[in-house]
Amino acid sequence: MAKNARDCKVVIAENGPYFISGSLPLAKEIIVCDREGIPAKWGKGKRYPLKKEYSLCRCGQSGNKPYCDGAHANAGFDGTETASRKKYITRAEKISGPSLILTDCKELCAIARFCEKAGGVWQLTVDSGDPKARKKAIEEACNCPSGRLVEWDRKTGKPIEPKLKPSISLVEDPDEKVSGPLWVKGGVQIVSSDGETYEIRNRVTLCRCGRSGNKPFCNGMHIDAGFNDGDESLKPKKKGSK
Ligand code: FES
Repeated sequence: MAKNARDCKVVIAENGPYFISGSLPLAKEIIVCDREGIPAKWGKGKRYPLKKEYSLCRCGQSGNKPYCDGAHANAGFDGTETASRKKYITRAEKISGPSLILTDCKELCAIARFCEKAGGVWQLTVDSGDPKARKKAIEEACNCPSGRLVEWDRKTGKPIEPKLKPSISLVEDPDEKVSGPLWVKGGVQIVSSDGETYEIRNRVTLCRCGRSGNKPFCNGMHIDAGFNDGDESLKPKKKGSK
């Protein structure tokens, strides 16, 4: 079990996989929608055996997902990293409310959609003088896997972040019938193929479908691409099953 984020690393191979080190736990995590089809909570999925080191597919072509099987070479995968290296806060738009400030960096959106409930996190921030709206705004921003959305307490001036242990989740989105990104949690270092470390953040989402235009980060293209890693939650339900 990874004890400390400093011991954990995701190193990006040029046009190849993610090399993971530091015994990072790996499991599926599922977007669970309410009756209106809006994501409401995260559901737990399959856990993978704990390994000290492993490599995860980045091109979306592996026959042994989530692990790399070398398919990127035959696929001629272009994994060029085009994401900005500037700090999140310098790129984020600010939305101010009476008790919260929301920062929003759209280019990081992984289209998990938790921000759409109850009028949306933007309106909830504007209405954050109401304790119920404030609570909901914080919940929605904290459920954002990519860290696109962060709520800040106006009183303390500090970000309100969920407590996340160093780990990696493979996102599944049954409502959209697709598999999503790698959700890297808990301040794990992400090292570029050129050796530079990206800004260390509590939560980021890395593309594993190979189609993002903001590599190494997910930009929601897995939905258009219909990316499917064969997870049980994406299989059509059998007749009579709930
Ligand atoms: S996994 Fe989201 S764009 Fe590739």
